[in-house]
Amino acid sequence: MTMQQPISTSMPSHVAIIMDGNGRWAQGRGLPRLAGHHAGTGNIKRIVREAIALGIPYLTLYAFSTENWRRPSWEVRGLMRIMAEYLDRELRDLHAEGVRLRLLGDLDNVDNALRKKILDAITLTSNNTAITLAVAFNYGGRADILRAVREIIATGVSPDEVTDEMINRHLYTAGMPDPDLIVRTSGEQRLSNFLIWQAAYSEYFMTPLLWPDFGPDQFREAVQSFAYRERRYGGRPGEQTASVATNS
Ligand code: IPE
Ligand code: IPE
Ligand code: MG
Repeated sequence: MTMQQPISTSMPSHVAIIMDGNGRWAQGRGLPRLAGHHAGTGNIKRIVREAIALGIPYLTLYAFSTENWRRPSWEVRGLMRIMAEYLDRELRDLHAEGVRLRLLGDLDNVDNALRKKILDAITLTSNNTAITLAVAFNYGGRADILRAVREIIATGVSPDEVTDEMINRHLYTAGMPDPDLIVRTSGEQRLSNFLIWQAAYSEYFMTPLLWPDFGPDQFREAVQSFAYRERRYGGRPGEQTASVATNS
């Protein structure tokens, strides 16, 4: 039997996860939806640990989208409370493990106490080097691009000076590599407004597992599958092509 050989031995530099399926996980157990969100936060530590063990420098987790405000207010309030409790419970361990926290999204609509907790956590962990954990919270890809466009216009730059690189520098992800691999749990096959600019040439790993059930072994499997992908960036099969061309 011939085994398929990996195309590359390289690890992804940036893995981004759409943590979906908490509600269905709870429903399947006859529990309230918020119990599913709570279980979802309980899964984060083991995935972060596995990412550190694999040597992945950037991990992004999609925690709350700009569209998630459309949910009933009790669920939104519950999600905010679960986020605050998560930081109270886990921040010390994340810090001890060398996790540097970063926020993708904006805290304008977030209540003062939670906003302060998030900003304090970012400050506390800012010199850590084991991994950068970017939390996409109140994040939307369109809002990200819109904000970048507004900032660029406000600089007074002329249209022909606007480049891909300039846009990258104004996105929430400034300074981070584009996601090499985007994982989505729960069987849905869509981006749901996640990193839509940055995902131009990302590889995808979709799994039917619900987020609380997606463990370190499955995460490792997703990362290992990346080595079998041939990334062409519009070039021809078998030819080494640099990443996305820019007009800069
Ligand atoms: C993902 O779980 C978490 C958030 C979107 C905040 P869901 O709440 O979307 O779970 P399902 O998709 O309803 O199962
Ligand atoms: C995407 O999941 C957002 C997060 C995981 C935070 P949703 O459950 O909100 O996505 P849709 O509504 O199914 O597209
Ligand atoms: Mg969902």
